[in-house]
Amino acid sequence: MSLPVFENILFDTDENGVATLTINRPDKLNALNAKVLSELSDAIEAVQADDAINVLIITGAGEKAFVAGADIKELSTLNKQTGEKLASVGQQIFEAIETSSKPVIALVNGYALGGGAELAMACHLRIATENAMIGLPEVSLGLIPGYGGTQRLPALVGKSKAMEMILTGKPIDAEQALRNGLVNYVLPAAEALDYTKKLAASISKNGPLAVAAAIEAVNRAGNANGFACEAVLFGGLCETEDFSEGTGAFLEKRKAEFKGR
Ligand code: CAA
Repeated sequence: MSLPVFENILFDTDENGVATLTINRPDKLNALNAKVLSELSDAIEAVQADDAINVLIITGAGEKAFVAGADIKELSTLNKQTGEKLASVGQQIFEAIETSSKPVIALVNGYALGGGAELAMACHLRIATENAMIGLPEVSLGLIPGYGGTQRLPALVGKSKAMEMILTGKPIDAEQALRNGLVNYVLPAAEALDYTKKLAASISKNGPLAVAAAIEAVNRAGNANGFACEAVLFGGLCETEDFSEGTGAFLEKRKAEFKGR
């Protein structure tokens, strides 16, 4: 199945079932205007529907920015109704990423500010290049984060650090982000894409049903029914062909060939 063609999004797929989605608006530091957001939403949907893709990498075009936030020119015209609508549309798109049955890895290759940081936080893993700067500067614009940042940042770095980042609006660099658990790895820019693709390929080898169930269970960590959900998902996997294949392959000392069934 071939992926749709977009104006502001580039796609690249490889033989390991890994797709790379590049937000391509480098002259505006890949800022998310309505068009980019809508294309991002369609792209995520297309990835879900494509059986040849197991893992998605999201990054930004150019060497300077992942995504420098929501488009401030567009934001400047919002009122109470349109502002609330924009925030809930953005939240829905980022929720689709967080709840995607296929792992999504953010390759944060420079500025990830406002909506850009929120996009990275909605992904399941984050890899930063050494020049990355991550922050939620919305209060400096007289706003607060609107694409889930007030909810996801505390979950990732703790309430105290999140409060500091959101109230000061000051970004942190890649090393600080690593120390605070906001990113998984920091790499030189020249090596980051290769490394991210290798990490994605290693996930892509695992049973896709199990990977999807793992995302669902981990997303429920901290919820009242998280343990019960884990048990139900675990039980469901025990009746899949992938489970027979995975355990059988281990016992027969061979590599598993998962079919996603
Ligand atoms: N929206 C619209 N345009 C943006 C943008 C944004 N978020 N960020 C950068 N740009 C544009 C600039 O206006 C500039 O365009 P022109 O060349 O046409 O003037 C171009 O991208 C390059 O940017 P700079 O010249 O500013 O580059 P710089 O290297 O001097 O600075 C920067 C880089 C520090 C990232 C700076 O661009 C910046 O502070 N950007 C805004 C970051 C921000 O506040 N993001 C949060 C937005 S609010 C939000 O996201 C709300 C939400 O939660 C949903």
